[in-house]
Amino acid sequence: MCGIVGYIGHREAYPIIMKGLQRLEYRGYDSAGIALYDGNQINLAKTKGKVIDLKSKSENSISLEGTLGIGHTRWATHGIPNDTNSHPHYSNSGDLVIIHNGIIENYETIKKELSKRGYVFSSDTDTEVLVNLIEEVKKKENVLLGKAVQIALNQVVGAYAIAVFDRNKPDEIVVAKLGSPLAIGIGQQEFFIASDASPFIEFTNNAVYLQDQEMAIIRLGKEIKLRKIQDDAIAYPLVQELQMNLEEIEKGMYDHFMLKEIYEQPSAIKDTYRGRLRVEQGIIKMAGIDQNIERFLNAQRIIIVACGTSWHAGLVAEYIFEDLARIPVEVEYASEFRYRNPVITDKDVVIAISQSGETADTLAAIKLAKERGAYVFGVCNVVGSSIARETHAGAYTHAGPEIGVASTKAFTTQITILSLIALKLAKEKGAFSDSKYHEILSELENIPSKVEVALESNSLVEIISEEYKDSDNCLYLGRGYNFPVALEGALKLKEISYIHAEGYPAAEMKHGPIALIDEQMPVIVIATNNGHYEKVVSNIQEIKSRKGKIIAIVTEGDEQVRELADHVIEVPETLECLTPLLTTIPLQLLSYHIAVMRGCNVDQPRNLAKSVTVE
Ligand code: G6P
Repeated sequence: MCGIVGYIGHREAYPIIMKGLQRLEYRGYDSAGIALYDGNQINLAKTKGKVIDLKSKSENSISLEGTLGIGHTRWATHGIPNDTNSHPHYSNSGDLVIIHNGIIENYETIKKELSKRGYVFSSDTDTEVLVNLIEEVKKKENVLLGKAVQIALNQVVGAYAIAVFDRNKPDEIVVAKLGSPLAIGIGQQEFFIASDASPFIEFTNNAVYLQDQEMAIIRLGKEIKLRKIQDDAIAYPLVQELQMNLEEIEKGMYDHFMLKEIYEQPSAIKDTYRGRLRVEQGIIKMAGIDQNIERFLNAQRIIIVACGTSWHAGLVAEYIFEDLARIPVEVEYASEFRYRNPVITDKDVVIAISQSGETADTLAAIKLAKERGAYVFGVCNVVGSSIARETHAGAYTHAGPEIGVASTKAFTTQITILSLIALKLAKEKGAFSDSKYHEILSELENIPSKVEVALESNSLVEIISEEYKDSDNCLYLGRGYNFPVALEGALKLKEISYIHAEGYPAAEMKHGPIALIDEQMPVIVIATNNGHYEKVVSNIQEIKSRKGKIIAIVTEGDEQVRELADHVIEVPETLECLTPLLTTIPLQLLSYHIAVMRGCNVDQPRNLAKSVTVE
């Protein structure tokens, strides 16, 4: 997964591409590059490192002029991150230059063939093979660039979003997509290309999202022409008007996107249920469910597929669906599910959860479930994303763009939407009383203001973080609804602070992790008053008698745990099924502050990427 940006029009391309790359760094940031056409020749700079490193390199080494250019920020798949493996890549003649997000799986076979024909390769990348394949086709078949790209892509296996241009024809850029995202922004006599709309949103609200197996020839002064890569059929571009604004994707007054996104949770949760949760009427309106309610009500079981934090949201949903709607649920890592020959029938409903809507394993799991007859429902944040398009129906979380690699508001908004679905189904099934239904409905509406209160723990969490920032290990414990929160808390800490952390069901502690507890070991325990409280208190006692340091997340006013714990962080009281929406807040803040104190790059942790479009 990488970020790609391109521009062709009447403005200087360099600043547009640079800024665009910075906005796409969440997709990868181990190297970056840019190629500009200045009217005579291509000027190319690339480097290992971040976009900021590329900026200084290009400003010191190449001419930055030109109204046509492409840029790339990389997350390495083939070939280590170094200057040579960075994109863009030239073809052997130097005529063509390409950027690519994805993986060409059969590149070695193609490389051997091309080598026999005299092609030489300076990098270890699959992308350099692709640009030379395009060049070879172009020469051999004597065709224009667009046709050459199409023929070449029919010979490759894998995933790609590419942009390529020819220095001999500098009025066009050819783009194509399969598996990786690609959007074209349409301005006045200018076009933008990017992995998502954030690089061009300040210039235009009109965008075309390429579908899989589509390519476009973007030519100055002409309408965009879309074609199917396989069979040359004309495809008609659907121009969408984008809703997002630039402010939404800037950091504002916060030091990091992660902190901004943590603080956005009250409004993000509200945005998620706005128009859907109608407390006074006692209804939940969700078009994606309403249209297909029978599929859900007759479902033999619900299978949830997801990765990372979204998988944790799926685990919370398992508790909610089973508890409220009495529908059996299985939660699967998409990467395991897709390769496990799972038993799926047309009586199953699969819910795929994904912030980005682009995670390759989740996408593949969806395709498999569909092939086997299941009804697939998507819960995504990114509008128009691949998963949103691939599923039979779905619901967007409306959390707004999430840029920090460590997912925060996506998690709580996913839980919100899944709670709405569970409640709606529970009501339809008559699984519980009207009064219980109304109680949960109105409490859900109160959650954003309770999240605001939970956020007030920030200064206390900062003080606690100071004490534990040098820990080597950390244990997170929770039970019931808060077991997945413990997993998520541990994931947040390891992702951004590089401290080894494990989440465990509190009662399982005695089957192993208890052996790790000594006076060096911070143990974060979620001990709210309504989820097996007494049992968790016993677990806390077990930790205390082994001298572990206890940081407890408790309900406002708690006294019992306060007596035992080294630190308590209070969250407002709520119904048990909604506690994850509150208990997760101090855990996000804890990992954030510890990471900042350890000098880690919070928004761009090492080796990770926001959107994982490779399996
Ligand atoms: C990556 C991100 C995580 C995210 C996971 C699943 O690992 O770093 O934050 O939870 O992918 O992503 P998705 O977009 O499918 O929710």
